[in-house]
Amino acid sequence: MAKISINFNDTVGVINPNIYGHFAEHLGRCIYEGIWVGEDSEIPNTGGIRNDVVAALKKMKPPVIRWPGGCFADDYHWQNGVGPREGRPQGVNIHWGEVPEPNAFGTQEFVRFCRMLGAEPYIVGNVGSGTVQELREWVEYCNYGGDSTLARRRAADGSPEPLDVTYWGVGNENWGCGGSFSPEDYGTEFRRYATFVRGFGKQLYVIACGPSGNDVEWTVRFFRKLKKDYWDFRNIHGFAAHYYCGTAGTSTVYSEDQWYELIWKGLRMEDLVVQQRAAMDAYDPQRKIGLIVDEWGTWHPAEPGHNPRFLYQQNTLRDALVAATTLDIFNRHADKVVMANIAQTINVLQAMVLTDGSAMLTTPTGYVYEMYAPHQGGMAVRTTVETDTVPVVTARAGSGELPFVAGSASVKGKELFVTLTNSHATQAVSLDVELLAGAVANGASARVLAGDIHAHNTFEAPTALTPVTMSVDARGSHFSVSMPPASVIALEVTLS
Ligand code: AHR
Repeated sequence: MAKISINFNDTVGVINPNIYGHFAEHLGRCIYEGIWVGEDSEIPNTGGIRNDVVAALKKMKPPVIRWPGGCFADDYHWQNGVGPREGRPQGVNIHWGEVPEPNAFGTQEFVRFCRMLGAEPYIVGNVGSGTVQELREWVEYCNYGGDSTLARRRAADGSPEPLDVTYWGVGNENWGCGGSFSPEDYGTEFRRYATFVRGFGKQLYVIACGPSGNDVEWTVRFFRKLKKDYWDFRNIHGFAAHYYCGTAGTSTVYSEDQWYELIWKGLRMEDLVVQQRAAMDAYDPQRKIGLIVDEWGTWHPAEPGHNPRFLYQQNTLRDALVAATTLDIFNRHADKVVMANIAQTINVLQAMVLTDGSAMLTTPTGYVYEMYAPHQGGMAVRTTVETDTVPVVTARAGSGELPFVAGSASVKGKELFVTLTNSHATQAVSLDVELLAGAVANGASARVLAGDIHAHNTFEAPTALTPVTMSVDARGSHFSVSMPPASVIALEVTLS
């Protein structure tokens, strides 16, 4: 037995659709095979971009996609990825297996991929091994609407009109693979780069590199540096942390305890969101600079038989629970988080879809994104949950209590959208839903993703785990939902 109370008088804020963002890096088979197969491929494609992947991702309504990395971004020189494909240089991907980088997928291909999905492109510039000039010229190539050599190059590459890229990152993980900077040194670099990242008539959204996990010290030292030099936070709109909850066992082999452990580690995202925003509030009390989590997710040992540097992992119902509980955190803190990008879209880490040559499947995590899409742009309303918990003890990440039931709620007019998880590995939960402030339900539709805790999709059984409809009799201000063990539920309630 558990209970969720939804208080319509207590609104949190509009859920920024960008919380449902993605991340695609030149890493393993994410870009090459996962997105780009080339026009001559036997895999059905549109201008080189595979159709099955686009169709599957479209159902998830991705609002924004971050590219080209990741660590790759700070060794990427954008000029290598424009112009006629046959003339593009072949490089080496130094971070991810030292494999050849054909540069067949560059700026034009990326923006085209985004537009096919209805997503905004988010481009990460190269601070670690690049130059201010390179980034400044990349923006000009993409966005300048007048006559310049770079605008002409863009037109010759197939886009007479500006590509209209709003989101620009100034480096990636600059405390690590992006140049091993201290927060103060990165602060100096950031300022220099951001001074020259100009909109060319368009208001850009410039994103600074935030901490590794919930490293509050990085945040304080970075903002103190900008403040100290009286820079007044010019041309910084977002600040992006990364948090990977890691693994417990492997992607598909884990005990019940490890099932709970990983979901619990995923929930540490809530500490990050609250504490990072509090640290930012000290410098930016009006929240003009948005907190972003532009890499997050599970990180299991790579699947046997695959290049370990390709970070290819299976994806089970446990990953789906991590995705769902994390997205619920972002929804519940809609006043604090403006964007989040799960790592990564295809074939890498906690992917939405997996491919094997011409075959493709949607993962349990991908289905969570489909199920949660109606939250995008909704008004988050405060929820209170009463639930049993299970103790979790980890080797290195501390210990605590994992609540079995969690969720979030948002409203759009007369539609209430509630997402729920039951993390109990073996027991169903009867959930009492209470609508406060005089709200009354007048019917609902629901979908559930549930199964054995190890359930996942394979190329032999690609639809072994998919969401199914469930019936919920939602009438009045109280109703009940039967939550199967190990389940994610999406409930659309019509209010009278
Ligand atoms: O997502 C894989 C890698 O994880 C990214 O390249 C890097 O930013 C992070 O460490």
